[in-house]
Amino acid sequence: MRTSVACFLSLVAPAIVNATQYHLLKDYSGQDFFDGWAYYGNFDNLTNGDAIFVNASVAASAMLAYVDPVTNHAIIKVDNTTVVPFNDKRNTVRITTEDSYGTGSLFVADMIHVPYGCSVWPAWWSQAPNWPTGGEIDMFEGVNQDTMNQMSLHTEPGCTQISPNQTSTLVSSTDCSFDSNNNQGCIVIDQSTSSYGAGFASGGGGQFVTELAEDGISMWFFPRSEVPNSIASNMSTVDTSTFGIPVANWPNGGCNINQFFQPQNLIIDITLCGDFAGNPTIFNQTCTGQCYQTFVLGPPSGYDTAYFEIQFVRVYSSGNTSSGNGSTTAPNSAKALSGPMWLWTLVAGMVLGSVF
Ligand SMILES: *[C@@H]1O[C@H](CO)[C@@H](O)[C@H](O)[C@H]1NC(C)=O
Ligand SMILES: *[C@@H]1O[C@H](CO)[C@@H](O)[C@H](O)[C@H]1NC(C)=O
Ligand SMILES: *[C@@H]1O[C@H](CO)[C@@H](O)[C@H](O)[C@H]1NC(C)=O
Ligand SMILES: *[C@@H]1O[C@H](CO)[C@@H](O)[C@H](O)[C@H]1NC(C)=O
Ligand SMILES: *[C@@H]1O[C@H](CO)[C@@H](O)[C@H](O)[C@H]1NC(C)=O
Ligand SMILES: *[C@@H]1O[C@H](CO)[C@@H](O)[C@H](O)[C@H]1NC(C)=O
Ligand SMILES: *[C@@H]1O[C@H](CO)[C@@H](O)[C@H](O)[C@H]1NC(C)=O
Ligand SMILES: *[C@@H]1O[C@H](CO)[C@@H](O)[C@H](O)[C@H]1NC(C)=O
Repeated sequence: MRTSVACFLSLVAPAIVNATQYHLLKDYSGQDFFDGWAYYGNFDNLTNGDAIFVNASVAASAMLAYVDPVTNHAIIKVDNTTVVPFNDKRNTVRITTEDSYGTGSLFVADMIHVPYGCSVWPAWWSQAPNWPTGGEIDMFEGVNQDTMNQMSLHTEPGCTQISPNQTSTLVSSTDCSFDSNNNQGCIVIDQSTSSYGAGFASGGGGQFVTELAEDGISMWFFPRSEVPNSIASNMSTVDTSTFGIPVANWPNGGCNINQFFQPQNLIIDITLCGDFAGNPTIFNQTCTGQCYQTFVLGPPSGYDTAYFEIQFVRVYSSGNTSSGNGSTTAPNSAKALSGPMWLWTLVAGMVLGSVF
């Protein structure tokens, strides 16, 4: 499909390059992993989580965000040493890239471990500064003791998932508008139980790969044993046509990507309870007790599995990236950190409930 779109466009725009070829643009890894990210530095006033997203100095001194000197992997975690007094929130981290990346980008996150456990709500995602204008792309998200990754888009009205070419059959919703279905977005769930939680960790993790292309947004998940040779080592060029059918796909036919998506800031965060993990209907599906009282205030060891261990986050560009200041073309102001995220409600919970 991508090939035929490129062929068609080449009739009117002969200079176009094959959109499946991507070149390494930015590598967040090793000792420099945390260069180029901003820390939120405030309590979670976005999703009502019982979490404080600490600033850079607390993250470093409390070792909530650091590079492991032995493995060279980045660790981003929830505080699992402090007993939190009633009415307080637990420390955790939310970081956002200073640079933004537009259409024509490929995001590859190679992770060994993702946070899980009762009350825990991690995400690897992106959004444009003026949400919902410019869109949001949720590449990895899970809650509590769930076993499967949930992917979604959030946009202004008019973007829907139509005729996807994807392997997952777990589609919770197809209207991406923030204004519909209480902003649950257009959700696809990965059927692989290696895509989240203990199952992800036991297989040595894997790679979450997202293509933000003019002809559609696609997401692949490769468990460690199935990472394609083309991205298994430190490749400077990637050809997405070697990846096979994506787990999730939102083609241009139902959603004009250039219209609904602007350059994205990449975000990694972990919150606790809040609108999604703490929704009693959702929480009850995999955990017992009460989210805040039993877990946030409970034994710190409840958070021993609540960490990201990341080998790298890499951004590749097709060389024709639309804009964004991390790209090779026009600069774009990419300063905002916040903006509403997910306004989860019981409705979303019931949709998920029907899936699990
Ligand atoms: C591959 O990349 C990783 C992370 O970017 C780095 O730690 C490692 O040294 C690189 N290996 C080689 C052989 O270049
Ligand atoms: C969250 O708090 C920060 C820092 O006080 C503030 O700048 C931002 O506007 C707040 N956001 C919301 C959605 O309340
Ligand atoms: C970071 O947060 C801590 C705890 O709230 C505060 O004491 C400190 O002043 C902050 N540091 C900066 C540089 O803002
Ligand atoms: C992109 O913009 C951010 C925020 O203005 C800035 O911190 C960053 O250095 C810029 N990046 C580039 C490559 O210009
Ligand atoms: C679906 O994607 C695969 C892999 O890119 C491709 O080979 C196949 O032709 C696509 N199918 C349709 C109906 O577009
Ligand atoms: C689920 O949560 C609700 C609301 O907190 C509670 O009333 C109910 O007892 C819980 N159900 C189960 C099965 O734990
Ligand atoms: C906290 O979690 C880490 C894993 O992130 C683990 O190594 C450590 O033993 C846990 N407990 C304490 C008290 O740090
Ligand atoms: C490439 O960039 C040109 C000029 O900005 C634009 O017209 C064209 O649609 C872009 N093509 C793709 C595939 O992004």
